[in-house]
Amino acid sequence: MPFEANYDEAKVPDCELPDPLTAEDGTAVSGSSDWPSRRAELLSLFETHVYGRTPSKKIDLRTVVMEEGDAGDCGVRKQIRFYFTLEDARPYADLLLYLPTAPRACATFVGLNFQGNHTIQADPEILLSDVWMREKGEGVVDHRSTEAARGSSSSRWPVSSIVARGYGVATLYCGDLDPDYDDGYSNGVHPLFYADGQSKPHADEWGTIGAWAWGLCRALDYFETDDDIDASRVAVMGHSRLGKTALWAGAQDERFAIVISNDSGCGGAALSRRRFGETVGRINESFPHWFCDNFRQYGENEDALPVDQHALVSLMAPRPVYVTSAEDDGWADPKGEFLAARYADPVYRLLGTDGLDAETMPGIHEPVTSRIGYHIRAGGHDVTAYDWDRWMDFADKHLGQGL
Ligand code: GCU
Repeated sequence: MPFEANYDEAKVPDCELPDPLTAEDGTAVSGSSDWPSRRAELLSLFETHVYGRTPSKKIDLRTVVMEEGDAGDCGVRKQIRFYFTLEDARPYADLLLYLPTAPRACATFVGLNFQGNHTIQADPEILLSDVWMREKGEGVVDHRSTEAARGSSSSRWPVSSIVARGYGVATLYCGDLDPDYDDGYSNGVHPLFYADGQSKPHADEWGTIGAWAWGLCRALDYFETDDDIDASRVAVMGHSRLGKTALWAGAQDERFAIVISNDSGCGGAALSRRRFGETVGRINESFPHWFCDNFRQYGENEDALPVDQHALVSLMAPRPVYVTSAEDDGWADPKGEFLAARYADPVYRLLGTDGLDAETMPGIHEPVTSRIGYHIRAGGHDVTAYDWDRWMDFADKHLGQGL
């Protein structure tokens, strides 16, 4: 039967969600000192059943500054190459960074981009990516980018406004870490971690989202070495598949001070058990490489999942987390995204924060800025200036930033 998404709230099944505050052996997590072990348990469940385990092996990662220059309204630009082996060869990833001109340790947003660093600004100095691209974007021919692609996603990356508010902004192309198609994990970073004789990840090992999240953590390692950045004030953000990735990076790496998920939907902030819009079965069919193989058993079988996505949001606690949705983005289930934020609230409260200061879903353009933040804006599946302005307000409030 062809897949037909449900967009009717009346047809959402009654769902019983696993309780983040009840350990697997049934004991209640009743004090903040019980949380670390429950947190570890939940993280392990997400590793085993959803995203796959990230290998702990250390590889020969080297960073080389490729370019640094004045970027006008966008402040100062730096481009840093991450080589993953001792050879100056692929796979490698390029980090693009814009910082306010006055050099000082600044709070910074980091997120992956969909079509190459050169698409985030029409800046001729950005290294043009020469690896595989989806054919979706402007200026992509035979899965390779051309000069015509420069700046094609700049509406999603308002760099000059971000820098004007005193923040740095950094990005990597997700395809530098793992090209976004199902190739059995023979390209990208996966093979660097295989044990002798291994040719693909085991059923509980990382997929593409895991590799992308790993790349975000490597960016954070770099920030710790760059005096122009305050690595203790880094917000990891992402849109859609890259929003799922931002959440998974933030869950695994508690050095991220703020985690922002935009329109991340199924496998991101949306509750899987609601089966509203995209479902687990459908996502595994369309994107079999994103999650670990174990996740496939939960297609049309969501109730068997030992976790749901509110537990992922709770893994950010007590750090500020901001879940953002768009009104016309039914595929990503805005209500399911709100409810995941809502049901993470007891964990945040247990840890002594204000949690999510909204019992019911707020109206359009009524941001909630408590430690768990939430907004829904008008319009469709996208990143807009409205989103960025609210994320910066949220970071001002929670990181004590502000010019
Ligand atoms: C598809 C996919 C979503 C994903 C989105 C995106 O719509 O089904 O899960 O979030 O692409 O990344 O833009």
